[in-house]
Amino acid sequence: MLSRRIVLSSALGTAAAATLAACASGTQDTGPNPSETAEAEDNQQPSSFVIGAASEVPVGGGAKFRAGDTEVFVTQPTSGEFRAFDARCTHAGCAVTAVVSQQIECPCHGAKYNFETGDVVSGPAPRALGKLTINQVGDQLEVSF
Ligand code: FES
Repeated sequence: MLSRRIVLSSALGTAAAATLAACASGTQDTGPNPSETAEAEDNQQPSSFVIGAASEVPVGGGAKFRAGDTEVFVTQPTSGEFRAFDARCTHAGCAVTAVVSQQIECPCHGAKYNFETGDVVSGPAPRALGKLTINQVGDQLEVSF
């Protein structure tokens, strides 16, 4: 009859051997495959979208557009000078909606952003709106990000 001590040490030895075998088998995750990483970087090329007519954005004001799945807020601080921002407020993600007194306003909790830079002017927003690249092509606005 086997003693309780012998059975226990035998079980521990089996478990340790299984752990060593798993480590030696090379099944550990060593990170992404280099070819997969290069493929992911290729997919991060900038995307451009024609979002609408420049005439939809009043001088000294702003308007909201859609670029793919992203809402974009475009301002025109001076005639012919456009700025584009990700419309998601950096506080809790509501879409900014309007320019009042040269500030982009969020309707949810009152954050205000500078309509030229997107920087926070007041309110609970922790950081500036995300800036996007915008170009005017004829009467159309094109945003890329
Ligand atoms: S989500 Fe814009 S101020 Fe809170």
